[in-house]
Amino acid sequence: MRMYDVIAKKRDGGELTREEIAYFIHGYVKGEIPDYQASALAMAVYLRGMTARETAWLTMEMEHSGDTVDLSSVEGIKADKHSTGGVGDKTTFVLAPIVASLGVRMAKMSGRGLGHTGGTIDKLESIPGLRTDLSRDEFLGIVRDIGLCIVAQSGNLVPADKKLYALRDVTATVESVPLIASSIMSKKLAAGADCILLDVKTGSGAFMKTLEESRVLAKAMVEIASHAGRRAAALITEMDRPLGCAVGNALEVMEACETLQGRGPDDLTELCLELAAGILVMAGKAENLEQAGRLAHGQIANGQAFEKFRQMVQAQGGDVSALTDYDALLAPVVRYEVRARQEGFLQSLNTEQCGIASVALGAGREKKEDAIDYSAGILLKKKPGDFVHAGDVLAEFHAASEKLCHDAEEIFQNALQYGKEAPHLRPLILDRIGF
Ligand code: URA
Repeated sequence: MRMYDVIAKKRDGGELTREEIAYFIHGYVKGEIPDYQASALAMAVYLRGMTARETAWLTMEMEHSGDTVDLSSVEGIKADKHSTGGVGDKTTFVLAPIVASLGVRMAKMSGRGLGHTGGTIDKLESIPGLRTDLSRDEFLGIVRDIGLCIVAQSGNLVPADKKLYALRDVTATVESVPLIASSIMSKKLAAGADCILLDVKTGSGAFMKTLEESRVLAKAMVEIASHAGRRAAALITEMDRPLGCAVGNALEVMEACETLQGRGPDDLTELCLELAAGILVMAGKAENLEQAGRLAHGQIANGQAFEKFRQMVQAQGGDVSALTDYDALLAPVVRYEVRARQEGFLQSLNTEQCGIASVALGAGREKKEDAIDYSAGILLKKKPGDFVHAGDVLAEFHAASEKLCHDAEEIFQNALQYGKEAPHLRPLILDRIGF
């Protein structure tokens, strides 16, 4: 087989065979196929697309390009959840303990934040002492003992994606549904769960800006899972406004703890219960989403979900007192109030810009090597839909210096839009796919 012929076939709109896709993935990972040929193929896929079975084959070949996680030593149904990324998204810390407290196993591998979106692993590491770099045996042992563990993705999981993503990033081929779907799903399949719930975000803070694009991506990912013999379903959810009120690592852990104790913001609570319900239905713990939602809510009301999170933090070496005594979690040098510069209904808060303001405060990274200030971030006091008078406090910033707050304030103020009428806000759950 020659890579030249594979590229030419896709360039002319042909459907690649599984053998051709396997030849490309294995050759590329081994360094036998050069970047320039891989770039040409990525661009041909970008322009010509892929059929559902080509996308599934690509995903499965990528899945097996490195280590995979064998969860067979863990009894029961194993579930996973993936969010396409947003601002203020701390749902994993709420839904995973809910479902684990009902017997669904969550062996979760997560990533770090980059750019305007935060990462689950950074958030978790804001809990003093907590380790996310566990060995495979420690990870599986905790999942067997308490049903829930969250670790950083291991170095050799889906190396094909690492190489291909870096290439797509510099060749204008990121925004291709088959390439995005295979990138995400190869990592989910390699992580070994039986059922996978996808939270596809849509809006100004999301990777997918329109509802239609988000639906296409969600359908492609659900279809890949079914080709691979796994179960997946997706929710399309609103990311035109930040989720909850906290943006930033320790702040988000604090808000998740409040939500686990029934005191969370309405939007975050609603989404966590929906996501948990989706997993419970897929795992056969409930017959339908309504029944599953009631079950999930019950685990917050009876304290078992919070207790499960506490057990996980303890098992991973974290200081559990930080989950109730937030002074141990939050220690910003500066707390700074951001005030409204005019009166009116908040129409919108550009969510990507809100994430960028949080990064400017020190909560995130612009480059992979940047250090994070875990206590930095934004606590929103007003959200789109609220009426504000000039001078009202819109948000509290946490940072290491006033200077950082001033710089971030300009980004934040410019991200706000005011109007005379109350805005029409979309519902939080915009669609459900695969239920
Ligand atoms: N997230 C991924 O993991 N891969 C993509 O291609 C895009 C978003």
